[in-house]
Amino acid sequence: ALERTFSIIKPDATERNLTGAVNAKIEEAGLRIVAQKRIQMTRGQAETFYAVHKERPFFGELVDFMISAPVVVQVLEGENAITKYRDVMGATNPEQAAEGTIRKAFAKSIGENSVHGSDAAETAAMEIAQFFSGNEIVG
Ligand code: CMP
Repeated sequence: ALERTFSIIKPDATERNLTGAVNAKIEEAGLRIVAQKRIQMTRGQAETFYAVHKERPFFGELVDFMISAPVVVQVLEGENAITKYRDVMGATNPEQAAEGTIRKAFAKSIGENSVHGSDAAETAAMEIAQFFSGNEIVG
């Protein structure tokens, strides 16, 4: 089915000027970038976004990292966009990521792993709504 997923190009990637390189991999995979903006996340936004992880030992480190530099938030559209983007991203740990994936190419570590993508339809809808209003998404 035609789906939308939410993507973040994380600080380790924006700092190394990899926004265009990541977008090339997204578009080569047949996903369409239907909304995109570069923002400096606030601590509150990052804590809300990662609320499901708040009991994890790495939560503080994760929030600090996500506000350490600008990020690019995006909505991607395509057939099976949620699964397709997770395939394009590769495994969370770049050491386990397959050849050709974004994380294999660019990620520095399990924390500084260059991109985020929604894991399911319900989370995609919530994550998109946190950062975009309907009129900012142009399919
Ligand atoms: P993401 O898909 O954005 O969702 C949760 C993030 O937590 C994940 O990517 C990783 O960047 C981060 N994460 C997961 N496990 C660890 C870990 N062991 N140490 C630090 N960060 C982690």
